[in-house]
Amino acid sequence: MSETIELPVPAWRDELEHEYAALRERIEHLVPCLEWPLHLPWIEAINRLKKQRGAVIMAHSYQSPEIFHGVADVTGDSLALAQAAADCDSDLIVLCGVHFMAESAKILAPDKTVLLPDLDAGCSLASSITAEDVRRLRTQHPGVPVVTYVNTSAEVKAETDICCTSANAVQVVESLGVPKVIFLPDNFLGQYVARQTGVELVLWHGRCEVHEKFTAGEARHARERFDAMLVAHPECPPEVLEEADFVGSTSAMGRWLEKEQPARVALITECSMADNLKARFPATEFIKPCNLCPHMQRITLQNIYASLRDLRHAIEIPAEVSARARSALTRMLEIGRTERV
Ligand code: 13P
Ligand code: SF4
Repeated sequence: MSETIELPVPAWRDELEHEYAALRERIEHLVPCLEWPLHLPWIEAINRLKKQRGAVIMAHSYQSPEIFHGVADVTGDSLALAQAAADCDSDLIVLCGVHFMAESAKILAPDKTVLLPDLDAGCSLASSITAEDVRRLRTQHPGVPVVTYVNTSAEVKAETDICCTSANAVQVVESLGVPKVIFLPDNFLGQYVARQTGVELVLWHGRCEVHEKFTAGEARHARERFDAMLVAHPECPPEVLEEADFVGSTSAMGRWLEKEQPARVALITECSMADNLKARFPATEFIKPCNLCPHMQRITLQNIYASLRDLRHAIEIPAEVSARARSALTRMLEIGRTERV
């Protein structure tokens, strides 16, 4: 259950329609017209408060269009957001995403205040593994390096040699130049990386609760029924990836669309991602099998406003854990960077 926040609803002003006409045009096919007048006063109130506070709002590509387009200063995948936090000039960051992303921002920008609008925005991958599990795996496989997906807690990152995201996982594993690696916690991403690299990976049983739901039958249906190209995220099951014309991370999907300019594409990934790409590629028709991440959906315009107003919820990480986690994240950033979108 999301917490209840007492907030006065910002007043509607007719001039808002004019001031935000360009935004409305950009997202009118994504936000139902009845919802627009409800969102607009919040968008304006957030943008005003953000300026007063000198804050930067960072939003993951799975955030809903009114957040992604309406209030975010920085948007992108988890790698782009981690980079942006490391490079950020502002002392105040509001992270519109899930808990591990806010933690990564705080680890990379320890002197800044990093706010997460809803502390219960978790992740099934992050909650699948503990620091103790990583220590046990190290004992079972002595000398084998540990690569951990950023979708993990700060404590797990602290036990890790190097982090990766879906955008650079193959590169990170290859960079180690060893025949065997412990790869945690996403089992499907791990299987994909093992196939791409030929490196023997010790895997965990973690799964993304959004991407694991897609089936090969559903993918084939999208191709046959809609004559669509198929693009899938590597967190999907292997049999889904086998059906895909392209497998790639959130940022790689954007690059692929830019290059291929398909007439019709089915995105086998989180649903808001398709919405946000649709705004970038208006000539392409998007088929959306549509699985929403319930954790990403916890972030709303209302709790972003409350977060800025009351400076809640500030992420705190014990200094010793943060320092060890930072070295795993920094090592990753030295290997593979990406563009914002
Ligand atoms: P990327 O942003 O690394 O593509 O990750 C996908 C994801 O599921 C984030 O929660
Ligand atoms: Fe976690 Fe999957 Fe949601 Fe991403 S989409 S936050 S991996 S549950």
